[in-house]
Amino acid sequence: MLIVDTKEALQSQLEEWRHANDHVALVPTMGNLHSGHIELVRKAREHAERVVVSIYVNPTQFGPDEDLDDYPRTLELDTRRLRNAGVDALFTPTDETMYPFGIEMATVVSVPGLTEHFCGASRPGHFDGVTTVVARLFALVRPDVAVFGQKDYQQQLVIRHMTADMGLPVRIVTAPTVRDDDGLALSSRNSYLTEDEQAIAPELFATLKAIGAELQDGKRNFGELEASATRRLESAGFVSEYFAIRRAENLEEPDRDCDELVLLVAARLGKARLIDNLVVTV
Ligand code: PAJ
Repeated sequence: MLIVDTKEALQSQLEEWRHANDHVALVPTMGNLHSGHIELVRKAREHAERVVVSIYVNPTQFGPDEDLDDYPRTLELDTRRLRNAGVDALFTPTDETMYPFGIEMATVVSVPGLTEHFCGASRPGHFDGVTTVVARLFALVRPDVAVFGQKDYQQQLVIRHMTADMGLPVRIVTAPTVRDDDGLALSSRNSYLTEDEQAIAPELFATLKAIGAELQDGKRNFGELEASATRRLESAGFVSEYFAIRRAENLEEPDRDCDELVLLVAARLGKARLIDNLVVTV
C-alpha cells in the first residue's frame, strides 16, 4: 500500500493507474477506522480496480466548541487495517495540501436546503465544512466512484446533491451501516462512552426499530411516533437532539402515501453525540 501526503505523489500514482485504464474509488474518512470504514473499502473494491482511502481530520467541519482536538487519531493502527483490507493507496494530506490558501481564504462549497435541518441545525457550518473538503478531495483524487456510509444519512444526501448539482464526474455509492452485535452503529465517537453509557447506547437503534415496526404496521401519526421515541430515549438516559420521520429521498415531511421513509435520530449520552437512522419501506 502506497502512503502519500502530497498532491504530487498522489497524482503521479493516479496517472499510472489511469494509463493502465484502472478505475479509482475513493473512501474519504477522518481515521480512527473501524469495521464500518472497512465495509466502505470492500464496497469500493466492487466498483474499481484501485481503492484510495483518505484520512484527514477536517477542521472546517468542527464547530468552535466541538471535539476537533480530542478527535481520536490512530494513524498507525489505521494503516495496518487498510493494508490488511487490500487498499492501494492511503492519502493523508496536510492542512496545506487541503487548504493551500489557508482556511480563512478557502473557497466554501455550500449546499442550501438539505443542510438546514437535523445535523445542519444542531451543528451550524458543519455541512459546509464537509462539502468543502469532499469537493477538494474529489478535485485532488478525481475518483470514478466515491463511497460514503448510510450511517451519516444526511451527509450522503448532501454529497449526492453537491455532486449532481455541480456535475462532478463522480458516482456516489452509499454502503450500509455496520453495527455491533447489540445494534449500536459503529462510530469513532463511541470511544467517548463510559461503561454505563455503553449499556444504554443500543437503545438508540432499538428505538428506531420499534418506531419502524409501528410504521410498517400502518401507523401514520408521525408527530406522535416522534414524540414517543423521544420520551423513550430520554427515559433511557439520552438527551435527545432530534427524532424525525422523513421522506427517504430528500428529508422532506412525508404524507400518508409516502412509501420510502427514513427515521433520523441524534442524541447525547454523556460526552458522546450519537446519530443513527433507519430506512423503512412501508
Ligand atoms: P468519518 O466519520 O471518518 O466517516 C467516514 C465514512 O465512514 C463516512 O462515509 C461515514 O458515513 C462512514 N461510516 C462511519 N460509521 C459507519 C458505520 N458504522 N457503518 C458504515 N459506514 C460508516 O464522515 C466523515 O468521516 C467526514 O465527514 C468525511 C466524509 C470524511 C469528510 O471529512
